[in-house]
Amino acid sequence: MRGMEIPAALIQTLRQTKKWAVLTGAGVSAESGVPTFRDAQTGLWAKYRPEELATPQAFRRDPKLVWEWYAWRRELVSRAEPNAGHLALAQLEAWAEQFTLITQNVDGLHARAGSRNIVELHGNITRAKCFECGRYAETWAEDGSVPPQCESCGGWLRPDVVWFGEALLPAALNAAFHAAQTCEVFFSIGASGLVEPAASLPWEALRAGAVVVEINPNPTPLSEAATYALNGAAGMVLPKIIKILAV
Ligand code: OAD
Repeated sequence: MRGMEIPAALIQTLRQTKKWAVLTGAGVSAESGVPTFRDAQTGLWAKYRPEELATPQAFRRDPKLVWEWYAWRRELVSRAEPNAGHLALAQLEAWAEQFTLITQNVDGLHARAGSRNIVELHGNITRAKCFECGRYAETWAEDGSVPPQCESCGGWLRPDVVWFGEALLPAALNAAFHAAQTCEVFFSIGASGLVEPAASLPWEALRAGAVVVEINPNPTPLSEAATYALNGAAGMVLPKIIKILAV
């Protein structure tokens, strides 16, 4: 079922359940001005495909280029503000008994909006770690060396994000699958459903008997199978749901 309106049956389900899990993708941050991965890239970076920059091979080949691309994204994210969709998700969490917010986003906007139980599947762009020894770095010297160097071993720092071809952290992955398998309602919001293993989570929830709700202005491989596919922007649809639930 695909449409713009919030179905009354969905509202009833939300009123009768308290265990919710949410998967968010780049679409949730689109209304904050953070470009999604599969939209055309803008400006300086228009000539690169993210898949060509977000790999260990790319970093080894041209660490300066990759560091600078992430520095540009980090700057963009630091100027962005959480939008109505992020805020609505923080409100949903406040009403739930069990709530896990699984995100593919690395922008930290969910935490800034007040969400608490967050599983960052793909890491966080605001942190870095050493490409050699793996030591985490919250801050680093901006002394002109690009990429900056690890304080402990002198290796290159890289962003603390999961690149194509790299494994996700087992603890994050386990928490995400556990949430999908034990929730009553699973939301997939602003995710294209093309990148594994996150793409499997809504299917896992369906298999376990959850009601699955997709929120996306465009159809995805999940849309046909979802219990409800709400055709709209996260920043429009989520506040509508909150408004109805609040009365
Ligand atoms: P994508 O860029 O693949 O897809 C964004 C999705 O958001 C699309 O399905 C859009 O239709 C939808 N969308 C756009 N605007 C929206 C809005 N206002 N509200 C709701 N939905 C909207 O993003 P992801 O699925 O997150 O991986 O991409 C997955 C991963 O691919 C990323 O985490 C990243 C990337 O390469 C890594 O960096 C490992």
